[in-house]
Amino acid sequence: MEKRKIILDCDPGHDDAIAMMMAAAHPAIELLGITIVAGNQTLDKTLVNGLHVCQALGIQVPVYAGMPRPIMREQVVAESIHGETGLDGPVFGPLTRKPEKEHGVRFLIDTLLASEGDVTLVPVGPLTNIAVAMRMEPGIIPKIREIVLMGGAYGTGNVTPSAEFNIYADPEAARVVFTSGVPITMMGLDLTNQTACTMDVIERMERTGTRAGKLFGEIMRFTYRTQHEAYGLDGGPVHDATCIAYLIDPDSIRTKDMYVEIDVNEGPCYGRTVCDELGVLKKKANAKVGTGIDCGRFWDLVEECLKMYS
Ligand code: RIB
Ligand code: CA
Repeated sequence: MEKRKIILDCDPGHDDAIAMMMAAAHPAIELLGITIVAGNQTLDKTLVNGLHVCQALGIQVPVYAGMPRPIMREQVVAESIHGETGLDGPVFGPLTRKPEKEHGVRFLIDTLLASEGDVTLVPVGPLTNIAVAMRMEPGIIPKIREIVLMGGAYGTGNVTPSAEFNIYADPEAARVVFTSGVPITMMGLDLTNQTACTMDVIERMERTGTRAGKLFGEIMRFTYRTQHEAYGLDGGPVHDATCIAYLIDPDSIRTKDMYVEIDVNEGPCYGRTVCDELGVLKKKANAKVGTGIDCGRFWDLVEECLKMYS
């Protein structure tokens, strides 16, 4: 099995934490580093959350603080879904794990420039870190093998009727990334909402009896409530983990090539991923967009990863 070298860029965040657990454990992934961005909560909180997850599970991967604010727009967070801390639910012990001194954007640039062009970026929060890295050092663009991101939707948004949170939180950054020419695979809400984590799934993962299974339960029991209250879903979708599942088991996810443009105009569609599903614009596709997932294989993979922890 080919090991995919990745950098996970995230805003922990409940589903980000599940993506971290899977990426750090599965042998098909070589997790080079975790860069943190402001998103679900402010950077001070998402950074602490990322460090707590690594410390709780003994994940020995360097963690870097990235951009604290979006490029242009005013900051928005997702407190109604992820809580005041950004990872409400679990109770962690005293934090001793420290972030690296280097800025996350610097780490992205230096790692990509030194690479053989075999590193995949996996952003599962706002795209601020990725966009700033591209602007600071355009030389990284040809060195990025692929960007597998959670964000957007060709259907309904979850922050506005048009926009999904990760894109809406920094649309200008998303435009930089989607116009960069780097091969993009986009796991949007149309795909990720199919992974609603019901109570049956939560109890299944808790029965693994591992530290990771216990933390999965504490994390997902919180979003089970908030996502039902916010959207009437019968569980919190594990949006971000679908990117890791795609890298490990690509055949479990169907995609369709589409031309995707980011709306950065003020108004009801600000932050929308405008996806040309039917190809009416006759423009070259710039993204593979997730359309369907085999949920049985997905939950089997999640369980397999959680069992890899003690
Ligand atoms: O819209 C879902 C996305 O927003 C996920 O990445 C979740 O963690 C939040 O960041
Ligand atoms: Ca996220």
